[in-house]
Parts: sequence; C-alpha cells; structure tokens
Amino acid sequence: MCGIVGFIGKRACTDVLIDALKRLEYRGYDSAGIAIFEDDKIKTVKAKGKIKEGLVEKLKSEPIFTAVCGIGHTRWATHGEPSDVNSHPIGNGRVSIVHNGIIENYREIKSFLIGKGYGFESETDTETVAKLLDYYYEGDPIEAIEKAVGVIQGAYALGIIFREHKNKIFAVRKDSPLIVGKGKGESFIASDITAIIEYTREYYCLERGEIATLDENGIHFTDLHGEAIEKELFTADWDVESAQKGGYEHFMLKEIHEQPDAVRNTISPRIKDGLPDFGECGLTAEKLRAYKHIFIVGCGSAMHSGMVGKYLIEDLARTPVIVDIASEFRYRNPLVSDGDLVVIVSQSGETADTLEALKLSKAKGADTLAVVNVVGSSIAREADMVIYTNAGPEISVCSTKAYAVQVAFMYLLAFEVAYARGRIDEARCKELVNGLTEVPEKIQECLNDLSIYQYVASKIFNADSLLYIGRGLDNALSMEGSLKLKEISYIHSESYAAGELKHGTISLIEDGTPVIAVMTQSSLFEKMLSNVRTVKSRGAKVVAICRAAENLDADCADYKVGLPEADDLFLPLISTVAMQLIAYYTAVQRGCDVDKPRNLAKSVTVE
Ligand code: F6R
Repeated sequence: MCGIVGFIGKRACTDVLIDALKRLEYRGYDSAGIAIFEDDKIKTVKAKGKIKEGLVEKLKSEPIFTAVCGIGHTRWATHGEPSDVNSHPIGNGRVSIVHNGIIENYREIKSFLIGKGYGFESETDTETVAKLLDYYYEGDPIEAIEKAVGVIQGAYALGIIFREHKNKIFAVRKDSPLIVGKGKGESFIASDITAIIEYTREYYCLERGEIATLDENGIHFTDLHGEAIEKELFTADWDVESAQKGGYEHFMLKEIHEQPDAVRNTISPRIKDGLPDFGECGLTAEKLRAYKHIFIVGCGSAMHSGMVGKYLIEDLARTPVIVDIASEFRYRNPLVSDGDLVVIVSQSGETADTLEALKLSKAKGADTLAVVNVVGSSIAREADMVIYTNAGPEISVCSTKAYAVQVAFMYLLAFEVAYARGRIDEARCKELVNGLTEVPEKIQECLNDLSIYQYVASKIFNADSLLYIGRGLDNALSMEGSLKLKEISYIHSESYAAGELKHGTISLIEDGTPVIAVMTQSSLFEKMLSNVRTVKSRGAKVVAICRAAENLDADCADYKVGLPEADDLFLPLISTVAMQLIAYYTAVQRGCDVDKPRNLAKSVTVE
C-alpha cells in the first residue's frame, strides 16, 4: 500500500522525509522517492527498491542540503511495474505529486490530455492527475485542485507541490487515508500517524472535499471553493506498533476492516465502460473463448478462492473448471496441456508448491495466469500473465483481505468468461459488474456493528470441535470460514456440504456441538432449513448466517448473524466478513496469538 509523507519546517527536510518514509515501510512498497524545493526548482530523486539501497544510495550522489520543504512516497505498484520512472513523486517540473489510491478514469483523462498536447512517461494512473493539475493551473493552486478533483474518479490521497509556490504543500483526499500533523514550527502530511509520531502526536484528519495548505505560517484548511474551515485537532497516544495497527488490537482486525477498499482496488482497475477488462495482462476475450479447460490452483485460502471461482464460472459460463491443491496437482501428473488456462492464485506469490504447479503447467504447454498480491514476486515473474490483487500488504498470518480480493477477482473472471463465450449478453454482464461494485458498501455495513460476532464468539469459544455447513456458493465460502476458525482459535473445525452430512459426518454432532450454517442462497434455503433442523434435533447449537430479514424459528437456529440485503450471487462474498469476525473474536476470547498462530508462517516457501 502506498505511503505518503510531506514536511515543511526550518530544518533539512530530506532527513525528515526519509525517516518518515522508513516508518511507513511496514505498509509494503517497491520503490520510493522525494521531491523538494531547491532554489527555484522542484528537485526529484526516486528509485526502485528499498529506501536504504535505492533512494538513500541515489541521494548520496545528488545530495540536498538546504531544502526545508518536500513530499515523499513509498509506492506499492498497481499501474505499471516497479521502476524508477513509475515511482512517485510524479510531475513535470511545474507541479509534482505523490498519490495513494487508484484513479478509475485515468484512461479517459490520459486521452483528453494527449489531445491537449501532453506527453506521458510512466504507466501510472498518477501521472494523469499530475498533468491534469498542470492543465488547470493558471496561478491559483486551490482552483487547479478544485477543478482536477471534479474530474478524477476513484480513491486518492494526494500531496501536491507547485514550483511557483515555494515551500508550500497542498493535500486533498477521497477514500484513501491522509492526516496532517502539527508540530512546533513545522507541519507534516502522512498516510498515517506512524510516519510522524517521532516528531508530533498532534494531527488533523483530512476529510473528503477539504484541502490542506501547509506553509511556514502553519496549516490552513479550506473547502474546495477556497472557504476557510476549522478542524478538530487530535492527539495520538499510541506507541509505534499500535500506530501501525491503526488503533486496532490486531493486524487481522485492521485488515478485515480494510476489505471494502481492498475489493474496490482489485476490481475497479479491471472495469472499463462497465465491463470486465483484463487487457492489462493480455487475457483477451479471444483467448478466453479458445481455452479448452480452465484450472485454478493454489494452497489454503488461495485454493478456497478457486472453489468460489469454480462455482461461479461453471454456473455463469457453463464451462468446467478444475480446482486443485497445488501440492497435489504437481505430483499427480495432471491432465493439463496446450490450449488450457491455469489460474495460479497466491497472496505472497512465493508459495513453493504453487510455484512448482505453475512451472509444471508451463512445461505442459498451458497458458498461465498468476493472481497475486505481492508485486514482482516469483509467481508473478514466472507466469505468462499477471493480475495484481492490490490488497496492500497483509501482515497477519491469517489471510482475510487477500482472500476477499481473490474471490472478488473470481467474480470478474466468471463474468468475463461468460460474456466472452456468449453465455450472457452485454447488458447482463454490465448488470453483474455493477452488482459487484456495490459489494464493498455491503461489506462495510457488516463492519459497522461488531457486537453480534462478539456475542456468537462468546457462545462457541469453549467448544472442542464444530462444523460449518452450506450448499452451493455457501459451501465454497464456508471452507474458508472453517479454515479461519481452526487456524487462529485452535478449535477443530470442518466444513461440510450440508447435504452430505447424513453420509457420515453427522455422527460427530452431540449435545452442544456448534454448527455454523451459512444460508444465503434463496433457492437452497428450504433445503438448508431441513439440514439445520436435522442437526438441531441431535443437539447442535446452530448459528445461522443469513439475510437479516430472514425469520428463523427457534427450532431452527439458536443465534442469527444477519447480513445486508444483496443478490444471491454476491451475498456469499459478503458473508465472508461475518465468518472472519466470528473466527477473530473466538480466538481473542480464547487468548490466542491472533496475528501469529502457532506452527504457521505467512509465506510458505518450503514444500
Ligand atoms: C490461511 C492462509 C494460508 C494461505 C496459503 C497460501 O489464512 O493464509 O492458507 O492462503 O498458505 O499462501 P499464498 O496465498 O501466499 O500462496
């Protein structure tokens, strides 16, 4: 996830900017840079790689001694590979910016500006904003910013400097975080308080529609029309580690809360004119029409996202999909060949079994598509095509947001395969894509009140063993819910297709055994009710995860976790959040080390 810093004061700004950027390293990045006012110019130094080996080394050959004001950035690549030229700050000598977020309509802005004679050097969406600001700038920065934010769509936090306004920083944001720090005779901007906590604990939260101007006289806030506004000053009483967790008790909880943005960041760059578009990686409609078979391969949660993909692609595109666990796939001489597509899913991009499965698929002549979160990782480099999931770094060992974005991608892939193969028409495809874009808001609704998850956790945390049951898409999603719970709370848990219980597993049910029944699919609801009654009559304590509007009799569920209203197709993805939070609070109540569960590693680079 990109990190932004900015400083204006009386001391040398380079040291402060580098120090603040280093404090944002935990967010993950692949390049870093700064832009400062030197004499009457903006001087920019930026480099691919780690701050210490890249930017700091470069600065040794281009030292900056006198500057007191500048902006800095750590970039987590989304549009364009990690490289010096794609690094931020980005600008043209007159204006320079640092950006966190994704500009959804950058293609249109780019063509508009090319028509006005602008050239582009980088592959980034950010460059379009820098040039748009330049286009609108006629001497008044606030006016230029006001006009530019009227045009750009998507999520952004921006730090901006104009050559003609020496030692001034402007900041504006929508949906991506940005704070403004107030020090003694100096001011800061930063993605979060971690970056500047060594210098000040006092900060303002910049809101949508507000512009901050920082100069030698202090900090000034205006609305987009230049009218002055008063803002509340906050004081952070966190230590650095808590600051990195953004005030959440654990990284897992923070990452669960980041899911609305993460899902937006995954899907929005892949939607063009309301339809899926994977042109960035070369996965064209022609190719999708021609593939003989589709395989999805991964481990753990990544493989579970593939299970959802299978249900979706088979249902919408009527195309068979084979999902495999990477460690099995590589040793069972799979029936993969020339003309097949193998989708390799991995958060880290380094999982040894998954990497070997990718190599095997390539050796057998298949086309490979990597769906990975970590830019430049081994799997990303090895695959024929890459989709980056843009979830930002996942620090908790237990995967939450990385899984949610893999699933979100599976939806888009299913829509595109169905459309390419003529199973749905353009109008239906647009309708489906539009439905997916509404999912982040619904996920947010699930996050607004956490009390039900805490309550359910208090009812199950003493269990020795429990079951997750579901049908259809709910079955696919429950596999992940069950893995979350066992992984961090150490309660034995199994996920079972509800209709299959009676063929053996139901013998595990005894008085008080918790059963978490996921029941989001209207067409399967009655069937699920029978399954639930069957386990309940054998003593199970049932937690039903279903629409909030559903009326459940007492003979059916003991506890209900209500979900917001949404189409059957999307509700399972939304229900993931409920399952993650039940697992989280259960582990917390058992006193487990949530972010670092025993015996597990974040990146499994051994067989
Ligand atoms: C579970 C979890 C693991 C990973 C698996 C694959 O919470 O994180 O099951 O999903 O180890 O890792 P990646 O996606 O990095 O290949």
